[in-house]
Amino acid sequence: MAGGAIVNAGATKDYPGKLTVFVFFTCVVAATGGLIFGYDIGISGGVTSMDSFLKKFFPTVYRQEKEDKSTNQYCKFDSQVLQMFTSSLYLAALVASFFASVVTRAFGRKWSMFGGGVTFLIGAALNGFAKNVLMLILGRILLGIGVGFANQSVPVYLSEMAPARLRGMLNIGFQLMITIGILAANLINYGTSKIKGGWGWRVSLALAAVPAGIITLGSLFLPDTPNSLIERGYDDKAKKMLRRIRGTDDIHEEYNDLVAASEEAKLVEHPWRNILQRKYRPQLTMAILIPFFQQLTGINVIMFYAPVLFKTIGFGGEASLMSSVITGLVNVFATLVSVFTVDKLGRRKLFLQGGAQMLVCQIIVGTLIAIKFGTSGEANLSKSYAAFVVLFICVYVAGFAWSWGPLGWLVPSEIFPLEIRSAGQSINVSVNMLFTFIIAQAFLTMLCHMKFGLFYFFAGWVVIMTTFVALFLPETKNVPIEEMVLVWKSHWFWGNFIADEDIHVGNVEMGNGKSKAGSV
Ligand code: BGC
Repeated sequence: MAGGAIVNAGATKDYPGKLTVFVFFTCVVAATGGLIFGYDIGISGGVTSMDSFLKKFFPTVYRQEKEDKSTNQYCKFDSQVLQMFTSSLYLAALVASFFASVVTRAFGRKWSMFGGGVTFLIGAALNGFAKNVLMLILGRILLGIGVGFANQSVPVYLSEMAPARLRGMLNIGFQLMITIGILAANLINYGTSKIKGGWGWRVSLALAAVPAGIITLGSLFLPDTPNSLIERGYDDKAKKMLRRIRGTDDIHEEYNDLVAASEEAKLVEHPWRNILQRKYRPQLTMAILIPFFQQLTGINVIMFYAPVLFKTIGFGGEASLMSSVITGLVNVFATLVSVFTVDKLGRRKLFLQGGAQMLVCQIIVGTLIAIKFGTSGEANLSKSYAAFVVLFICVYVAGFAWSWGPLGWLVPSEIFPLEIRSAGQSINVSVNMLFTFIIAQAFLTMLCHMKFGLFYFFAGWVVIMTTFVALFLPETKNVPIEEMVLVWKSHWFWGNFIADEDIHVGNVEMGNGKSKAGSV
């Protein structure tokens, strides 16, 4: 096997340069793309628990909720149409992310963000002024297109701008903005639910225009990433940009590696067909499984339906909205933990610890609900018992917020080689949206049928995903993004999929046969 590469994955490069103020601010602005996604996640649950909203658009659900007070709590809100309101957005985002991949690759990351912001803005207006269910759903579809574009471009943008050593931290800015968006939405719902005239939900929905305005305007000021500039043939601009974002003239090594990656990428005409090649199997597997697992943690049951869930266990309307403000706060603060540890502890440790924490909490919450509600779904919880349930839900949210939440976006955005990066990220976004959709659409029905067992169901998935990470996910912290192939090559399992000839990275010596890949 002459001409193979000698791989030493342990010794990846550390390019010169520091975290410049410029790169920090561009990353903060780009990360605001997460606000629109977060705002939307947080707003729909609260709005669908408002009586005035239900009465206007979903009168049957409203009547059903009022009428069967004394019966099974698990099934109180089981309505396909109501779930469709929440989940339609994610189907739209799923489809949009494929179009976004073309825009992101051909025109640069910033125009995808801009397009996302504008579409979201129009969706917010339609929703705020909605007169019927059609306007409502149409608005949600536009919001979904906005989210599809933003989620496709922002994580990749952040991972390309950041110096390798701080990539985790800067990328998690996106997730931090998601959580801030969710919290803002929770707070706004809490405020607007008190509006007497019954139009509070309009304010909640229309205020989505604020985060949309931020990313739309912000993206206009963003420079494009050096990787994308080179990919589109603007070599001089790319060099200048690299100097500016790294704060040093000593960028030659990194620049040459980016050019090499881009040359490689140019040979690939069909990223979609290409991604199916054997050598990309590890990345493809992660692009599918990471978002799938992220959603199977069950997090969106809490994020979308916390107010409904809290009502189910006997909280009043206001207390329910308040409790979702509490989980929203925990979500933001716990995300900060990962911002400051992800590049030191690494991705794997956070995944494993967070998984264990979520598992324990899910079992406890499921059991607490089982004890009181059993299978009949009838119970009256004391205040302290309900507070106990909320406490464990909070610890669960914290576990998610420093593991699968941020890492579910970070890891896929940093593992693809340039030639399949846009396509890979679209797969990641669309799988994420597909399972967000499925959970949003099915949760209330699942709760009705699986009862407290629903929590055990998600706990089972957490066991599977944590084992998967332990065995199959190599550590990617501090590894330059265009050198990631070395990490796969030296993995005990994935190494088998990558031939020595497939490795074309600057620092790899071309040897005469043997691959000296170490294991991770
Ligand atoms: C997930 C969302 C989730 C949010 C919660 C994100 O990473 O993709 O589905 O609602 O985290 O903070």
